[in-house]
Amino acid sequence: MSAAEAVTEALRELHARFAPLGEGSVAEYIPQLARSDPGAFGLALVSMDGHRYGAGDTTVPFTLQSVSKPFVYALALSLLGLDEVGRWVNAEPSGEAYNAISLEPDTGRPDNAMVNAGAIITTALIPDTSGAPRFERVLDCLSRFAGRELDVDEQVYASEAATGDRNRALAYLIRSTGPLPVDPVAAVDTYFRQCAVRATATDLAAMAATLAHGGVNPLTGEAVVPGPVAAQTLAVMATCGMYDGSGDWLLRVGLPAKSGVSGGLIAVSPARFGLAAYSPRLDPTGTSVRGRAAVGALSEELGLHLMHNPALAGSTVTLIATPDELPTAGAGVPRERVAVVAAQGALDFTAAERVLYALDEARPGGTEPVVLDLTEVTGVDRVAFTMLSGGLGRIAASGARTAVVDRADRLALPGPGEPGGPAVPRGFATRARALAWCTGDGPG
Ligand code: DON
Repeated sequence: MSAAEAVTEALRELHARFAPLGEGSVAEYIPQLARSDPGAFGLALVSMDGHRYGAGDTTVPFTLQSVSKPFVYALALSLLGLDEVGRWVNAEPSGEAYNAISLEPDTGRPDNAMVNAGAIITTALIPDTSGAPRFERVLDCLSRFAGRELDVDEQVYASEAATGDRNRALAYLIRSTGPLPVDPVAAVDTYFRQCAVRATATDLAAMAATLAHGGVNPLTGEAVVPGPVAAQTLAVMATCGMYDGSGDWLLRVGLPAKSGVSGGLIAVSPARFGLAAYSPRLDPTGTSVRGRAAVGALSEELGLHLMHNPALAGSTVTLIATPDELPTAGAGVPRERVAVVAAQGALDFTAAERVLYALDEARPGGTEPVVLDLTEVTGVDRVAFTMLSGGLGRIAASGARTAVVDRADRLALPGPGEPGGPAVPRGFATRARALAWCTGDGPG
């Protein structure tokens, strides 16, 4: 057994545990879906490094149905922005079934983009031009999320188109309520086609993983949607993705998720992985019975609940040396003593706060020169960049020499020979050079 088989084993164990669940029934209101195999059951997981794991029926194709909704919403958000999309579709849990005939009384907007009414408008908002017809844009986007070219199950599409009067009624109702810039009645057919796009559980896990990975597909490396759009989409999935069961799902399972009536279910563990289940027997809310059970168990057993404190980030600061603790340096010549702080890992707000606090601890007099060693730092995000630049700038401006060991140039500081004098922080390739500059050796 390979080492990574351990992950596959965990999925196999979940699969074996929940395969005996025989409750629920396959969706019948779309006649073609009634032909699905009620015994099919697959679980798939795709990590942020693009590692794929699965158990059971992970290669059986089925139609996305409502699992398409968050991805088309993400496409609309990336084309039009949250404010414009939000004018036409709200982001409030409806507390109603996915196919409810209901719009907000005051605005006429659907409650959210996860219920059918909101999904139809969302699809209608995707531009339809002769060079790039609406459905081509939708299919292309869904394919990029999956990391391979998806296609349409024409039989399921025809079956839904033949029986989809309730969704057409919703489209007419929406059109009757307000001055929409687009025609939902014309778009409802595209909505049927997007629901009939065919994918496997592994594809769904890759799509979920792309949302978990800030919009970048971990299999292809392609930025499918911008990071903020992925976050917005996950927020709506968390609050509305499971329809009238969304609150209970967030309470118990604690992951953004989306179900579809063909038996697909995706769940997203942000920055960890995308998860998908396929099993066509549904509960009364239209969610896969086994999928719900398996995702719920996995979340609990792996401690994935969003509101659960994530493991505290590993230590950031690896050295805080005050001048008193440091030896003098140089060929027997006592030098001015210098405080030294070293940090490691990826620096975000939390880590930057730790570094700034450590810089103060290392300089009890508030006047000591200081070296901040970032050699073991693997990344500095925008917030940490601003915080560290500001903090180091304040120390330097107070008159204390401030040196950063920053071979990767993460803080984009001037080197010691560049203009600016000693009142700005300086970047160095090694700690020895930084110390030498702080003690007065070298240009300054
Ligand atoms: O609009 C419909 O009725 C279907 N094409 C999709 C509904 C769906 O998947 C609801 N989700 N659980």
